[in-house]
Amino acid sequence: MKKRILFTGGAGKAGRHVVPWLINAGYEVHNLDLTPLDSPGVTNLIVDITDSGQVYNALTMHRDFADLDHGRGVEPYDAVVHFAAIPRILIKPDNETFRVNTMGTYNVVEAAVKLGVRKIIVASSETTYGVCFAEGHRDFHQFPLDEDYDVNPMDSYGLSKVLNEKTARAFAERSGADIYALRIGNVIEPHEYADFPRYFADPEIRKRIAWSYIDARDLGQIVHLCIGKDGLGYQVFNAANDTVSANTPSRELAARYYPNVPFTREIGEFEGLLSNRKIREVLGFKEEHDWRNYVTV
Ligand SMILES: NC(=O)c1ccc[n+]([C@@H]2O[C@H](COP(=O)([O-])OP(=O)(O)OC[C@H]3O[C@@H](n4cnc5c(N)ncnc54)[C@H](O)[C@@H]3O)[C@@H](O)[C@H]2O)c1
Repeated sequence: MKKRILFTGGAGKAGRHVVPWLINAGYEVHNLDLTPLDSPGVTNLIVDITDSGQVYNALTMHRDFADLDHGRGVEPYDAVVHFAAIPRILIKPDNETFRVNTMGTYNVVEAAVKLGVRKIIVASSETTYGVCFAEGHRDFHQFPLDEDYDVNPMDSYGLSKVLNEKTARAFAERSGADIYALRIGNVIEPHEYADFPRYFADPEIRKRIAWSYIDARDLGQIVHLCIGKDGLGYQVFNAANDTVSANTPSRELAARYYPNVPFTREIGEFEGLLSNRKIREVLGFKEEHDWRNYVTV
């Protein structure tokens, strides 16, 4: 029997790559979004996740007409993957970004836990590290950015993601469910590697995100590994590729743009400053889409 995955925000930039990845890996995927994802095999339901009633309904109703035929009623989900959000500041007013992201996450996690789903994966963000949307220049506390960092963003989006991690942790504490928060780096779709030469020419462009990136398809692998790894309770994982999105060594970038930020350990020449060590060691992540496969330098 295929695992049944309920996915939110599948029509978005990340979801439209992650959902097909999961379907190819053998899952059934049902997408909840304000707009449908037009992709083979996925079923869609138009849902506003800020409305708790809609979210509970979506988790307890048939997915499509075929579901009526087997006569077994509504089958439970094996996992919920929650990506739906306002994905940065300056799209909506700050309070609306905060409301949609925090209430949406509360509603999705609450309904999933209370309906007995034992694996939930939520999209957090590298912006929790506090520099991406900061006022003026702000130093990170230290490099590399590991998951035990004291996150303290000053913007409504980053703050919403910190709160979402707390929501995830609270529900994991009470229920014993596995809830994994992914601090996703800058998502790169296949066509976006064309922008990399411009980034290399001016590394300052990606300074605020510490030159992190995650290939959208490698993000699919990470979600798949999270679905397959049980028993970890509440976890935070950085979701990033192995190296910086620059052709300048990591230490050189840090020395040039963050001269006052200390390193807590030795790192490889181009190793990512948003560290993916934990997903490699705990989940067995092996990147398949190094930018060097797509960009000539
Ligand atoms: N893109 C990045 O670089 C990046 C980096 C770090 C974290 N993230 C996080 O990853 C997730 C996916 O990001 P993305 O870039 O695909 O964003 P996106 O904006 O492209 O997609 C988000 C999806 O959520 C849906 N959505 C928004 N509000 C909704 C609501 N009230 N009800 C139902 N659906 C709603 C949108 O319709 C959209 O399809 C988000 O949680 C985002 O915060 C993204």
